[in-house]
Amino acid sequence: MHYIKKEFEEAIKEIANQEELKQLKAKFLGKKGRLTELFKQMANLENEQKKEFGKNINKLKSYIEETIIAKQKEISEFIKKKSLEEEAIDITLPSRRKEFGAVHPITKTIMEIEDIFRSMGFDVEFGYEIEYDLYNFEMLNIPKEHPARDMQDTFYINDNVLLRTHTSPTQIRVMKEKKPPVMFISPGKVYRRDSDITHSPMFHQIEGLLIDKDIHFSDLKGVLSEFLRMFFGDVPVRFRPSYFPFTEPSAEVDIGCIICKGEGCRVCSHTGFLEVLGCGMVHPNVLRNVNYPEEYNGFAFGLGIERFAMLKYGIDNIKLFFENDTRFLKQFSF
Ligand code: DAH
Repeated sequence: MHYIKKEFEEAIKEIANQEELKQLKAKFLGKKGRLTELFKQMANLENEQKKEFGKNINKLKSYIEETIIAKQKEISEFIKKKSLEEEAIDITLPSRRKEFGAVHPITKTIMEIEDIFRSMGFDVEFGYEIEYDLYNFEMLNIPKEHPARDMQDTFYINDNVLLRTHTSPTQIRVMKEKKPPVMFISPGKVYRRDSDITHSPMFHQIEGLLIDKDIHFSDLKGVLSEFLRMFFGDVPVRFRPSYFPFTEPSAEVDIGCIICKGEGCRVCSHTGFLEVLGCGMVHPNVLRNVNYPEEYNGFAFGLGIERFAMLKYGIDNIKLFFENDTRFLKQFSF
């Protein structure tokens, strides 16, 4: 009997988890266990001896049971302690900073320009980036072989379909849909085969169109001068004669150079002025193409959003808008 106790004591020392303990329990206390063997041996003994032997086996049995229960407790406490240690949260560590996103500077600029024109009563309309040659050129008074087509290096999809080179085709789309008067701006992406530090093959424009009765060049001048002052602050504005096939007369608008305040610098090529948009009175051929009645006329304008954003925020490389470097973009989260 003594050797079984010893065997048990040796074995329990090696036990490391509940599963092993269960097996040990079966080995000693189970139906075919070591103690059952002992009870069987009892049958061969004399009565007196039997009593003594039985008492000893029961003592051993209690001892084994108690030791196993103690071991069980020890193991589960060890597991609990270990998991508490592993899951401990170090509250002395600094917390992670919450990062806030920022509106992209191009979107921000569009939103600012939209706000200004909405305050003057303009609607906002949208055109299509994949456009018909018919709307992008033909109906804007730019027939095939017209030299003005060379001004814009076009991505063609097929002979009749292209990536729009400007937002001007939205003029045609809206006028085909709506009776005059119309008064809207239209922001969006445009595409040209052009790429350097001031040109990107995809960039953004805002188109503007106002058609009503009795519209004069002075209306155009008033609206655009006011817009430029609202966007850039109190800067000089000048109108210069220019040429666009879809307007007559046409003009380009300059503002006093924001960088050198008109002194003359590299950015304004020492002229003291920066060109910021194209405009003009809508060409009668364009109004005829959309079947607008003779008594209606109006003005149109177009501007490059990247250029507006670069001037307003002092950005010197157009590529910064499209690289999605968060260190650059974060600066616009105000
Ligand atoms: N579509 C012209 C361009 O992309 C810009 C423009 C000039 C639009 C004069 C107009 C306009 O509506 O009247 O260069």
